[in-house]
Amino acid sequence: MQDDDKRSAAEAAVNEVADGMLLGLGTGSTAAHFIRALAARRLAVTTVATSDASAALARSLGLPVRDFAEVARVDLTVDGVDEVDATCRAIKGAGGAMVREKIVASASTRMIAIADGSKRVEQLGTAALPVEVLPFARAFVEDQVRALGLVPELRRAGDGEAYLTDQHNLVLDCTGVLGQALEPLAVALDATPGVVGHGLFLAEIDLALIATSGQVIRLER
Ligand code: 5RP
Repeated sequence: MQDDDKRSAAEAAVNEVADGMLLGLGTGSTAAHFIRALAARRLAVTTVATSDASAALARSLGLPVRDFAEVARVDLTVDGVDEVDATCRAIKGAGGAMVREKIVASASTRMIAIADGSKRVEQLGTAALPVEVLPFARAFVEDQVRALGLVPELRRAGDGEAYLTDQHNLVLDCTGVLGQALEPLAVALDATPGVVGHGLFLAEIDLALIATSGQVIRLER
């Protein structure tokens, strides 16, 4: 059911795509539904991907994927979220791709978030906030985020080793976000040496398409 709703939101997002667009492809299971639905529609688009996994999926389905290092502007990015509120602010990064996702979102004229209804919250911060950290700076950044009132936990991969992002950095999953003022928190994290990025998306998302029992609602910023 939840997966059906992810697919419904993804299919609704494909309706926002036009021939000729350069698209940003998000990461995660909902974004994967979008990539599959996009490929099935056979539109004349090119893409950039926010993760190696999404690039591989898109290429396997015949979508052209450009190297984002050679791209400055993107027309539309479609991506999943871990939590989204009524004003399209979101927490992202459970899939570990939040740094590339934010860069591609920032390069995009428009960003659409897609999700099943379980991701819609009144207040952000029940989900852990992922913070990507240079391995060199791990203990320092852990100390800094504790001083911000968060509780960091080093993300581990399935084999018990430290999880590494596509950039070979660590992720601290931080609890304690609920009730915090989010804009100052984002500014403080952005200003912390050793923090490569984090999953607070407070201004990037223009439209959220949320599907519940097959019904898709639109939340506009
Ligand atoms: C990856 C993300 C994902 O978009 C987010 O975690 C949602 O994933 P899913 O669609 O699998 O629930 O931010 O970094």
